[in-house]
Order: sequence, then structure tokens, then C-alpha cells
Amino acid sequence: MVKHSKLAQWLQKMQDLCQPDNVEICNGSAEEYDRMWELLLGAGVAKKLNPDKRPNSYLVRSDPADVARVESATYICTERKADAGPNNNWVAPADMYARLNGLFDGCMRGRTMYVIPFSMGPIGSPIAHIGVEITDSPYVVTSMHIMTRVGQAVLDELGSTGEFVPCVHSVGVPLEAGQESPPWPCNPENLNIAHFPATREIWSFGSGYGGNALLGKKCFALRIASAMAHDEGWLAEHMLILKLTSPEGNVHYIAGAFPSACGKTNLAMLIPTIENWKVETVGDDICWMKFGDDGRLYAINPEAGFFGVAPGTGMDSNANAMLSLTENCIFTNVAETDDGDVWWEGMTDTPPAHLVDWRGKDWFPETAKKPAAHPNARFTVAAAQCPVIADEWEDLAGVPISAILFGGRRASVVPLVNEANSWNQGTFFGSIIASEKTAAAAGKIGELRRDPMAMLPFCGYNMADYWQHWISVGRKTGVQLPRVYYVNWFRKDDAGRFMWPGFGENSRVLKWVFERCEGTAGAIETPIGNLPDMDSLDFDGLNLTDTEIAHLLRVEIDGWLSEIPLIETYYDRYGDRVPQELRQELMSLKRRLEEAKQAAA
Ligand code: OXD
Ligand code: MN
Repeated sequence: MVKHSKLAQWLQKMQDLCQPDNVEICNGSAEEYDRMWELLLGAGVAKKLNPDKRPNSYLVRSDPADVARVESATYICTERKADAGPNNNWVAPADMYARLNGLFDGCMRGRTMYVIPFSMGPIGSPIAHIGVEITDSPYVVTSMHIMTRVGQAVLDELGSTGEFVPCVHSVGVPLEAGQESPPWPCNPENLNIAHFPATREIWSFGSGYGGNALLGKKCFALRIASAMAHDEGWLAEHMLILKLTSPEGNVHYIAGAFPSACGKTNLAMLIPTIENWKVETVGDDICWMKFGDDGRLYAINPEAGFFGVAPGTGMDSNANAMLSLTENCIFTNVAETDDGDVWWEGMTDTPPAHLVDWRGKDWFPETAKKPAAHPNARFTVAAAQCPVIADEWEDLAGVPISAILFGGRRASVVPLVNEANSWNQGTFFGSIIASEKTAAAAGKIGELRRDPMAMLPFCGYNMADYWQHWISVGRKTGVQLPRVYYVNWFRKDDAGRFMWPGFGENSRVLKWVFERCEGTAGAIETPIGNLPDMDSLDFDGLNLTDTEIAHLLRVEIDGWLSEIPLIETYYDRYGDRVPQELRQELMSLKRRLEEAKQAAA
């Protein structure tokens, strides 16, 4: 029984529209989870893994046409196109509703409509928010069980009048009487992932995979939440959250935004190489921050699980992720071993002699032309299974953030670490982060994909207004803002080799950030920001020469100067909505660089 009249009305409306054979309200129980797997096993889309190897774990193979988030079919539906901004695909709400009403009409015939009440964040946290997803995919139900908090407790928290974000999902394959479903139903020709920021609604049609279908994640926790955060004065960010403890037992919490393929999950679970420092995980992908009474930003991880990219994850690159995956997992589009376990590229140096690949075909290393696991193959696992999950990861109050890192993949120009002098400069750093599309030659600027705050595919409104929101957050009175850092683990030398070992060694940079927060580490003021001097960043025990260290921390005056017009052009895409404060940051950076160049001449 649903006590919430608005929820009950909406469910009735969706039932009338989608015309499912049955409706089931999900309670989040183990019985429900197991029952969904019985359905998925029966449909031939899932396999139970060998319980001696991976207890209570499943392998799922998706349709090869449905393997990743599809940004080209992702829409922000605002009345005015300019409010969605050049960073989003836009369709007017009335047009999108007309399209969706057509697509959803009868789309669940022959299927069950599952109603999933879920909380993003610990239930009852003032930073958390509630959603209700309806879906015709049992796979989505199992994944939401792991990735969010599902069930009656959420309905209880919602009471009879609480706010919720309605999330409508269908794989888009209705069944006529007697018609059998394909193992992984999907409708890629009619894919639409639509967001309505004004009414806080999400409608997704045609895909059963990841961010297209688990609507709590990118759709709610980033696109819709970023619009909510804008209106309500908080921050919804594409950031990991980690807890860093010094040998003395002091603690700082650090959040970090990095575009895809920059090692965010690895950093969140890092094993420090410096003695007696400890990193623990609060979150690996999304961070919601609201101001506490003391004026500090308090963060929660709105998710309850990790939906991580499997390829590239191994004991060398991320032991804590591997140790999280020993049981109770879902693996999607990885390869299957002869003994009923899973494998993916990067799990071990040498692949097994035979595998069944992600498409279900025999795979032998000698003759293989393609990877055995899909490059976007995923593991889904409860965050609680991570051996280094921080005790306070579910604290209702959240954790106070001391520092924010922004990073991209840059072969040149951007030093290992650079501290902003102010919140506005930090916002400027966030707005210009970029990764090279191609492996750029050292000393040259490659083709850059700007991914401001790592939010390019996830900001639910005009990016320039989002920057303005960051600036406004910094203007609030009585707040104590985190320090902001621009980091780059991917710097290359003149021969094109990575100069920084990365992974656990990144703890050295975290240590400097920590000590800056404590006020115990020094820095040199430079035209681009505050950089560590040779002595304040701990390079002990690393096989780096002084020349290499100097290169990693070099202020490339000419490189930055040639980047200025690229940033100007980039800002111009957003026209006069770009905050004056960011234009000023850019201008004063240019002036400082020119002065430094003149002084050196
Ligand atoms: C993700 C992404 O899947 O950022 O987390 O693409
Ligand atoms: Mn992400």
C-alpha cells in the first residue's frame, strides 16, 4: 500500500501508460534479489558463477548493441535551449513529452512493472534525497539493490508528503501474447534518456545498461541533482571522496573530480606508498555537499555501491577493488573462465588459455583479435565490501571536505600539482580541466577535450550557469571553503614516457595537500598558482632525479601562454553567461605569465 498520494497517483498514471501485466513494489529484501536472479537465469541472460570461486555472484551478457551510456541520446529538456547550454542536447519539454508518450504507450505489455523506492545517500541524512524508479528490467532491480538503498524504509522516510524524483525506465520491448523476450531486451533505435530539470523528472527508454538504466546514478545524482543543487545552494559533483589519515592520526577528507579513464576509482581506494599514511574510501564517483552549521561543506556519497570499469582493474592497479569483488557481485560483459569464474584484460598479466568472451564466443589468447571483456565491462558491488571503506561512510551528517582536487590527462603544460590561491581560482581550474584526446607529444598541446569539473556529460543545465553557481557558493558569508588543487598524474617526458609513477605514489601529492590544509607544508607562489618546492613534497625513495622532479613541477610559461587563447575560445562557446570572475581569472593569469616571461627575457 502506498500512503503517499502523489506517488500513488503517479504510479497509476504510469501503469495506465505502460500497461504492464503486473506491478510489484520492491522491498529491497534478499528474497526479492534472489527472485530477480531466478528470472534472469531463466531468461538465459545471466549465469551463476562457480560458488567456490565467487560466491553469490553472477555474470550477465548484454546485447552487443547496448553496452554503454549514450550521450548522443541524452537530453536536457528546458523551456529555453540556452538554459540547457551548448554542453547538452536539448529538446523542448512539450516535444519530448509527445515523443515519450508515444514510446511509453504500452511499452511494458507482457512484462512486470517494478517500482523501486530508493534513497541516494543514507536514509534520513539531511544531504540525501529520494527517488522512485519504475522499470521493466529485473537486472535494473538487482543493480539498484546494490547501488542504492531500496525498500520500505525509503517509503517510510517519504511518509505521505515527502519529495521524490520520479524516474521512469523501460527497455522498450513490449511482448505480445505468447511472444518470448530476447535475453537482453533493448530498443537502441528509439533510445531516449530525457531529463526535465524544472519538474525534476527522468524518463529513459530503450537501454538496460548502466547509466542509461540505473537512473539513481548519472541521471538523478548528477544531472537532476546538479539542477536541484543550483536552486538550493549546494553542490552535486562527479567526485570521489577519500579519507586521509596522517601517521599522527589527524584526518582530512578530500574530494576529487577526474574525467573518465583518469583512475578515479583507483585514487579512491589507493594504498599509500608513504609509511603510516592511510587512505580510506567514502565514495568513488559522486559527491553531494551541503553546508553545515559551522560553514564547512559536508559530503556524502549518495551511492551504496561501486559500478566500476572492470578492464584495467587488477591486484597491481587497485588491490582494494579486487578484494571487494570476492563475493556478492554482478559482472556485466566480462569474460568467463573454464572454471566458472570471470576474467578481464588487466586482471592478470597472462590471460587464461581459454575463455568465453563477453559476446559468448570462444576466445584464445593466441588467435584473439579483440579483447575478451568489453572495454566498458563493469562490476557492481556493495561499497560495504570494500576492505578500506571508511567507518563514517554512512554518517548522516556527511564528512567535512578540506580539499578538492581537479585533474585531467595532460602530457604537458600542467604540473603534477598546483594549488589555487582562492575559491575563484579553484573554480577557474575546474572549468579548464581537459584531457588529451590523443597521446600528445611532450611539449605540445594535443587535441584537448575540455571536461569542466568532469561534469561535461553530467551537468543538467548550462555549464556557464553552473560555473556561476560555484562562484556564488564561494561568496556566501560565514563559510569555510575547501582548498582547491589542479593535479596531473599523466605528465610525459620529452621521449613520451610517463614521468610520474602514479597509483600508490599519488599519496605523496595527497600528503602535500593534507599538510597545506594543516598549514605545515610550504609552497612557492608562481604565475599559475602555488606549487610545492622540492623539499615540501615527499619524493623520498622514488627513483626520480632532481631534473625529473623539476620537470614535473615546472611552470611552463610558453605552454600556458599558448593555452590562453584556447581557453578564451572555449569560454566563448558559452558567450556572456561565463562569469566575469572566470574571465578575470583568465586575464590575470595571462598578465602574470607575460610579466614572468618579460622578467626572464
Ligand atoms: C562512470 C562515468 O561510469 O563517469 O562513472 O562514465
Ligand atoms: Mn563517473
